[in-house]
Amino acid sequence: MNINQEELKQNLAGKLIGHRLHYYESIDSTNEEAFRLGVQGAPEGTVLIAERQSAGKGRMQRVWYSPAGANIYTSIILRPTFETSRAPQISIAAGVAVAETINRYCPGKAWLKWPNDVLIDGKKVCGILAQMKMSVNAIDFIVVGIGMNVNLSHQEFPLDIQEIATSLAVETGREISRLELIISLYENLAKWYRQLAQNGFDPIKEKWLSLSSMIGKTVSVMFREETASGKAVDLGDDGSLIILTAGNEIMKVSAGDATILKG
Ligand code: BTN
Repeated sequence: MNINQEELKQNLAGKLIGHRLHYYESIDSTNEEAFRLGVQGAPEGTVLIAERQSAGKGRMQRVWYSPAGANIYTSIILRPTFETSRAPQISIAAGVAVAETINRYCPGKAWLKWPNDVLIDGKKVCGILAQMKMSVNAIDFIVVGIGMNVNLSHQEFPLDIQEIATSLAVETGREISRLELIISLYENLAKWYRQLAQNGFDPIKEKWLSLSSMIGKTVSVMFREETASGKAVDLGDDGSLIILTAGNEIMKVSAGDATILKG
């Protein structure tokens, strides 16, 4: 069953995130469309939701599996007024908001894997792809794209991701109202976005660290042809993962795919 647009619109009226809603039965990618709308001047807090995506985008040029009617594919346009170097903090704040939302359905089960995967028992339930448009040394807008696996059964995932992905329905054993989930997701996003604007990055970083499954563990991070390994010790203010290498060097990793090697 599709999301009831009218009911959603009523619930989001006047809210920081969601006061403008664009709903699509099908679209290439909500992030791509949000970028187009952002360029045309769409205001902060504009959200896009699609029932399916024909070209859903993941991190590192991957495809995001986006079948119809079961999941959440949404992009949010934000126009923060802080300096561009702080842009990654938005994506970290989004990760915290998503993990908090999922934890309402599965208390204590959602964890964050750097940079921003949300996992339940080591399986991915949600991914976040943030994209920025800059204008002369300032952030013009940021699109925060969120893909959440909600009502897919184990068998409905393609074979190549069946063992590494999960959904809220699989984890809770019941069908989840996507409408309620979206409302709660946007509320949490607005809460952490306001927190970031008013109190800076520290409270978000602290929350992120408490929800992270990596800190204190030996990890390896692969980016293109390079791999960095060491103990994950902290999150940088630029969203980087800080690791302590075997040679006792502090290294900052700003992009890549992280794997936990040992606890
Ligand atoms: C990841 O690789 O973990 C990030 C996945 C992000 C997927 C979402 S779905 C909604 C939005 N539109 C896209 O094309 N991608 C993001």
